[in-house]
Amino acid sequence: MEVNSVESLPSDGPVWAIVLAAGSGRRYGVHPKQYELLGGERVLDRALGTCRAAADHVIVVLAPGDEAIGEQLVADGAADAFVIGGVERSDSVRCALANVDEEAAVIVVHDAARPLASAALHEAVVAAVHAGAEAAIPAIAVIDTIKRVEVDSDGTPVVAATLDRRELVAVQTPQAFRAEVLHRAHAHATDATDDAALVEANGGRVVIVAGEVTNIKITGPEDLAVAAVLLASLG
Ligand code: CTP
Ligand code: MG
Repeated sequence: MEVNSVESLPSDGPVWAIVLAAGSGRRYGVHPKQYELLGGERVLDRALGTCRAAADHVIVVLAPGDEAIGEQLVADGAADAFVIGGVERSDSVRCALANVDEEAAVIVVHDAARPLASAALHEAVVAAVHAGAEAAIPAIAVIDTIKRVEVDSDGTPVVAATLDRRELVAVQTPQAFRAEVLHRAHAHATDATDDAALVEANGGRVVIVAGEVTNIKITGPEDLAVAAVLLASLG
């Protein structure tokens, strides 16, 4: 498919959401973070619940061995289907993409590790694609000063450069894509930490929408504690 043809394709058809929960959570520790409790509900269930409200169809991607959890989620109506993911995050996305109906117009990819993303944020990225964007991702300003570091000849990490923070943003999920744009980005791809990077590598135009500072990613155990405080403050 030619890149130029993208603008002419309709994007107001069904919205499919892919919720990624097939990671092993190495940085989190012993318990799989997607099944930790946050405000009395599993992290994954929170992420799924928000996707459910914003999308017409939801596919959840789980790790090998979590099939019984997937069957229960489908039985409960929390997801329409589950698939078993792959080794890297992008592999897991591709496992789900293979099960997305060709009628899908917009595909949203969301990390289960971001359980506090709001319904409004899901709606905002989908609305941007409906309005004509090939891809729309949430981002927030970078608060810290960011430096590039090199290891010098005696093994000491030293600053190589200070980056201009005004040019930088920190990117989140949910990320929304015209379906054919996401399929094409993954067609020959290997791995990237987000799907937008694959679209960028393919020459795609990725639009930024305002992210949420409360939409943190649970990476280490301290993040779950922060998320619990944020959840309480969000009411
Ligand atoms: N993920 C996935 N399949 C993988 C790797 C990651 O579905 N093979 C999912 C995770 O479950 C998570 C999201 O992608 O919801 C973001 O990944 P990350 O925060 O890195 O989680 P993990 O890969 O599980 O953690 P770690 O990198 O610490 O092992
Ligand atoms: Mg990971």
